[in-house]
Amino acid sequence: MAKMITGLSQACVHAGLVFFGHQSNIYKQMKNLGFVLVIMIAFLTMESCTPIKKILLHFKNVNSKGHEQHCRIISASDTAELHTTKTVYIDRVGFQKGDTVVSIGVGSGWQEFLFSVYTDSIAFYLEDIDTSCITREKIKNKYLPHYSAIKGSNITNSFISAAGTDTSIGVKSNVASKIFILNVYHHFSDDMAMVRECKRILKSGGKLFIDEHVLNRNKDSFKFCDYGGHYKSEKNFVKDIVDVGLKCDTIYRFGKYWRIFVFSKQ
Ligand SMILES: C[S@@+](CC[C@H](N)C(=O)[O-])C[C@H]1O[C@@H](n2cnc3c(N)ncnc32)[C@H](O)[C@@H]1O
Repeated sequence: MAKMITGLSQACVHAGLVFFGHQSNIYKQMKNLGFVLVIMIAFLTMESCTPIKKILLHFKNVNSKGHEQHCRIISASDTAELHTTKTVYIDRVGFQKGDTVVSIGVGSGWQEFLFSVYTDSIAFYLEDIDTSCITREKIKNKYLPHYSAIKGSNITNSFISAAGTDTSIGVKSNVASKIFILNVYHHFSDDMAMVRECKRILKSGGKLFIDEHVLNRNKDSFKFCDYGGHYKSEKNFVKDIVDVGLKCDTIYRFGKYWRIFVFSKQ
């Protein structure tokens, strides 16, 4: 009898060990599965640009199109920006008195005001889908006095604020002698619609300048969902724009990735 009880209790202990050992394996597997699920959900959340988007955009202080919302202003001590403006653009673009320039995605228009430090009698359309940094008041009361002080005399160029959309430019047809798209192209969610719009607003003989980074292959440009646009390879970039009917005149290459493309309307 005693032998039977001892045998039975040994069997129970063995069964318990097997059962709980098995349980702890299940627990471990469930823990691993939970971990994998959390990683998958976090990845999908980032990729699908939904709940985490607002938090990240809040910390980056940009709107849904990558527009920094602090209305950047360049000061006289920003010698690098002034130097780049002069040596990269002014010396290449060939601004002329009487030009009508449309700049797309200007943000605060700091680059166009720096152009105005070195040029005279040009009409600038400052265009963006978000015009909060280029209100008439800001242009008149803030930017014109500020950049005139850098120029050392009154800025003689005029500025018109224009609102666009993701697929349209808020300017009439055949008015622009020059168009700029500076550090903006990869923000376009429908770049081909924007290129067709450029063709529409360019005068015949007018030029389109695009300052853009190229990559070895086309790639989405959004980091944490904020743009919705994409970068292209140099070859694809040129081909897509030429297919719309503009001619590629020149490509200025700075290092491996930075390009200034010049297209014209025949
Ligand atoms: C990185 S900011 C560049 C601002 C300025 N050009 C600069 O270099 O500082 C990109 C700008 O493109 C604007 N943007 C994005 N898509 C646009 C579109 N389809 N038409 C006009 N502006 C657009 C955004 O609102 C934002 O102001």
